[in-house]
Amino acid sequence: MTEINSVTTLTREGDVAVITLNSPPVNALSANVRDGLYEGFKAAGASDAKAIVLICEGRTFIAGADITEFGAPGKPSASLFDVQTMMENSPVPVVAAIHGTALGGGLEVALCAHYRVAVPSARLGLPEVALGLLPGAGGTQRLPRVVGVETALEMMTSGRHVPAPEAAKLGLVDELAPEGQLKEAAIAFANKCVAENKPLVKISENNTKLEAAKGKPEIFAEFRKKNARKFRGFDAPEANIKCIEAAVNSNSFEEGLAEERRLFGGLMSGSQSAAQRYYFFAERQAAKIPDVPDDTPVREIKKVGVLGAGTMGGGISMNFANVGIPVTIVEVQQEALDRGMKVIRGNYERSRGAKPEETEARMSRLTGTLDFNALADCDLIIEAVFERMDIKKDVFARLDKVAKPGAILASNTSYLNVDEIASATSRPQDVIGLHFFSPANVMKLLEVIRGEKTAKDVIATSMKLAKKIGKIAVLAGVCPGFIGNRMLSQRQREAQKLVLEGAMPWDVDRVLYDFGFPMGPFAMSDLAGLDIGWVKENSKGETIRDVLCEMDRRGQKTGAGYYDYDENRTAKPSPVTEKIINDFIVKSGRNPRKISDEEILERCVFPMINEGVKILEEGKAIRSSDIDVVWVNGYGWPVYRGGPMFYGDLIGGPQKVLAKMKEFQGAMGDDFKPSALLEKLAADGKKFGDLKG
Ligand code: 3HC
Ligand code: NAI
Repeated sequence: MTEINSVTTLTREGDVAVITLNSPPVNALSANVRDGLYEGFKAAGASDAKAIVLICEGRTFIAGADITEFGAPGKPSASLFDVQTMMENSPVPVVAAIHGTALGGGLEVALCAHYRVAVPSARLGLPEVALGLLPGAGGTQRLPRVVGVETALEMMTSGRHVPAPEAAKLGLVDELAPEGQLKEAAIAFANKCVAENKPLVKISENNTKLEAAKGKPEIFAEFRKKNARKFRGFDAPEANIKCIEAAVNSNSFEEGLAEERRLFGGLMSGSQSAAQRYYFFAERQAAKIPDVPDDTPVREIKKVGVLGAGTMGGGISMNFANVGIPVTIVEVQQEALDRGMKVIRGNYERSRGAKPEETEARMSRLTGTLDFNALADCDLIIEAVFERMDIKKDVFARLDKVAKPGAILASNTSYLNVDEIASATSRPQDVIGLHFFSPANVMKLLEVIRGEKTAKDVIATSMKLAKKIGKIAVLAGVCPGFIGNRMLSQRQREAQKLVLEGAMPWDVDRVLYDFGFPMGPFAMSDLAGLDIGWVKENSKGETIRDVLCEMDRRGQKTGAGYYDYDENRTAKPSPVTEKIINDFIVKSGRNPRKISDEEILERCVFPMINEGVKILEEGKAIRSSDIDVVWVNGYGWPVYRGGPMFYGDLIGGPQKVLAKMKEFQGAMGDDFKPSALLEKLAADGKKFGDLKG
């Protein structure tokens, strides 16, 4: 065995030279790995080997470029382009042996091998789009030459990790190897190449699949049109598409490559990719809790109980049924239970690609009952009953009597004090908040609320379980509304105020939609129903919402709310709402004024950032980036703007936000009072990103 460098070895198996990479955790293409590859291929090429296999140790094949190197000053090292050129021009066959994931630059390396062998569990893809980028190592030019233009468009703009069996059908993988026998299979394949004198396939030289798309610009036009909504606001999908267009229309591979390089550079230096790369690490960071190390023991969760089969209880239950964990759902009313179970079944049946047997298997894991004692054998019980402290405390006092020792008792409360809820039990160490977002079977975010007495293993179990059910968990401390809803209250307040000062609901919504949110607060209210929490008997026409509800304009479901809706539920600004608002303004003795889009945005967003700083000041979030993870996953903050805290830094940092808050405070009062920590950050010239809770 020859040690090429600290991450690369070269061995010999008969006629085949085997280059092995071992650079944990994911064999990313760091300077060291590129050097190892370059020197490894050079040494193998200089030997008398008749073929070369490239394989990786650890959990995966090369998972891409090393994202930590982006934007950092480069170390002198071999370029990826040099490595790829050497591989493609190798006079003996090169076979890439793939397990785990071959992603981004990893797949781009594999595409420079003459052949690819993979185990069925492997996945291949070009996920750069998720980092606000495009494959910048020839992937945009090679992929369409292998899989065709349409498939390349889909793969590159979705970033999907394609399972190896599908990749084999697409021609991306030449042979599937038995699981656990990748090395042997790849060596056998390499020997076969030699024995059968198989051609040294250079993907860059085969234009057949591109020819099929030549002179058909409609392929691209239709693709853009079909995905316009999905791509809205993002720069990277369009740049990826343009690269494939270049592959089709260029006179040579090199010309296409030059266009790829140009567009890659543009994305890499832009703020969107900076935000999306930041977000990649933010999401992984959120799982790390300083005083709850990764090796904290966890409690085994084999059975879950859910209290309440309403909007949240049903969705929460589905998450566990989906991963094979049985759930007991307890209700107080048979009718509510039946309705809840029916909604769950409907959700399963409507879900894309649902197979009837799969629906039945999942439904069979759900047991509905009115018997509270049925929760006795559950390892985790999640309460999702009405949002009232007296009811929650009553439920937890009863749970204390019924639940087995060591069971985790969780509340899905949106705003209430988890410590107070825990005080209703004799075991506050077992009590935690698990705040799911609606629809709970779809939304990725889970706020995990740590009570004053919550045990560390309860936190560790909750964080791990979140990952198991496909959620992104963020730890928050006890405070009204936790991280997300606490900040949302700031935005909601300003949205309402803006409307009483002269902006129309559709003005506010448009500004936030254009910023990148899926919808503005008023469209959102119409969707959710204006009458949530509205009580007819108590309604005295004191707010715009009261008046709208009294007129039976309760949102989309009644065909009107803030907006008017046609039969396709398309929203139109409503003259009725406009008149109601104008009457309110006159009644309150104000003069409506023209409010700029800039003011709408700053009034909605800056108080949120200020509140985020307060949350950190009070230690209710661990780090600034956790707040961004909450907003991207729970509230539709556009990931290409990183999250509110990242955005604050992007547009000028604490000094800019402070100056604006002070200006607003002077004009409009203490809703804009800057937090002490914001003042300090600005004075110290620090960034929001520096903040830890
Ligand atoms: N660069 C640097 N670090 C990376 C990395 C990368 N490409 N991919 C993963 N990591 C790190 C993670 O930050 C994490 O570090 P931590 O343990 O310190 O938190 C560790 O590797 C493990 O990652 P995950 O927690 O995500 O592990 P999983 O097993 O859940 O997932 C994975 C593995 C599917 C490979 C996932 O990490 C992933 O999707 N990685 C990114 C893949 C990617 O985007 N590749 C393209 C990069 S851009 C590129 O190649 C440009 C080229 O075209 C020029
Ligand atoms: P919901 O009104 O749709 O459902 C509550 C259900 O609990 C009802 O079916 C009711 O019959 C049942 N219930 C009441 N008391 C009970 C008891 N003692 N035992 C068993 N079942 C009982 O309410 P929703 O929207 O599901 O909210 C539940 C909780 O989730 C609340 O705390 C809410 O704040 C929180 N939440 C709600 C979100 C939402 O968007 N709806 C989002 C996140 C959290």
